[in-house]
Amino acid sequence: MRKKIIAGNWKMNYSVNRAEDFVNDIKDRINTDEVEVVLCPNFVSLERVSDLIEDTNIKLGAQNVYFEDKGAYTGETSVDMLAAVNVKYCIVGHSERRMYFNETDEIVNKKVLKLLQKDISPIICVGETLEQRDSSKHFDVVENQVKNALKDVDSIFLKNKIVIAYEPIWAIGTGVTATDEQANEMCKFIREVVSKLYTKNVADMVTILYGGSVKPSNAKSILEQSDIDGALVGGASLTNDFVAIVNY
Ligand code: PGA
Repeated sequence: MRKKIIAGNWKMNYSVNRAEDFVNDIKDRINTDEVEVVLCPNFVSLERVSDLIEDTNIKLGAQNVYFEDKGAYTGETSVDMLAAVNVKYCIVGHSERRMYFNETDEIVNKKVLKLLQKDISPIICVGETLEQRDSSKHFDVVENQVKNALKDVDSIFLKNKIVIAYEPIWAIGTGVTATDEQANEMCKFIREVVSKLYTKNVADMVTILYGGSVKPSNAKSILEQSDIDGALVGGASLTNDFVAIVNY
């Protein structure tokens, strides 16, 4: 039985004091062992949030990382730096990073491999544009993203570390959610891709999330789909709605 993960991606919102107030406001209400709750604040707030959730079941996630260990990479953050503040998850290949910061499949793969070396779970984001879906390329696009992200990744990590998040770009921040059927169909397809790359047993164990305008009103039906193991939540993770989603 795959455990559900609900991760909040705060993106570039909340400075450290606001982050502290928010976590203090919601932490008792999202502290559960029924689902794995992950908060992904901005880098500057990671340490503060880490301290605040220390005595809870809530896990800390980062929104990005660099694949080199250290050195002259101005503005970048290493996996060791994340591990030092108790980061357990890291979002990789979010469509906003692919779009605005030229994060390619190759870079995504390097980040995935580096995170795994240091025992941090990558949350690998994949998903198609509306144009790609309208021209029936969405399965090919997602298959390629999954294959490239998982290049040279050992099967053991698929079973216990890797998280894949299907986030159709047309559903992110738009208020338009994929239907339950569309979301489940693609998550199931991703599982088949993993099955072809590895084995069915591995595919049955890999955690696959849906992301894109998840809100309290649609969380339950999305999370009850056969191949969806949780949600990556953007906008709604910044408000009390996140509490409602976690307690769906
Ligand atoms: P959204 O964002 O929930 O605001 O659509 C999801 C995401 O970008 O991960």
